[in-house]
Amino acid sequence: MTTTLYQRLGGADGIARLVDDAIAAHLNNPIVKTRFENIRDMERAKRMAREFFGAGSGGPDPYTGKDMLAAHKGMNISEQEYLAVMDDIVNTLTRHNVGAESKSEVIAILYSLKGNIIRV
Ligand code: HEM
Repeated sequence: MTTTLYQRLGGADGIARLVDDAIAAHLNNPIVKTRFENIRDMERAKRMAREFFGAGSGGPDPYTGKDMLAAHKGMNISEQEYLAVMDDIVNTLTRHNVGAESKSEVIAILYSLKGNIIRV
């Protein structure tokens, strides 16, 4: 039987926990913490991140936020900041005991988005 990435990440609840911990890690990461401290509506930002990861990993619910280009346009995000966010996410997946294959799939998805995020 095949399982979707969504199921392997623990469904909506697992993804909500991953998002909470990844954002906590960003808020502790000197390279990007100010970016995340400046978010005005953190509840909405977390909801959007949950929706994005849920929909992007094969979950049943739609993503209702902006596309990645529109979401990051004008922020002038650097390669270093992008890598810092990737590292936080990978470390979060490791802490949550997400398996190597699922982790690789998440990394591949995030990497494919970098052209819509860095210096756009
Ligand atoms: C690694 C890939 C990334 C993904 C998948 C991602 C995902 C998202 C999503 C889903 C949103 C919400 C869009 C909306 O409001 O409709 C968002 C917004 C945002 N992202 Fe990213 N992001 C990524 C990388 C980054 C990086 C590297 C930074 C900065 C270091 C960053 C900073 C932000 C900020 C500040 C917002 C706006 C939040 C707000 O004001 O509500 N993101 N991102």
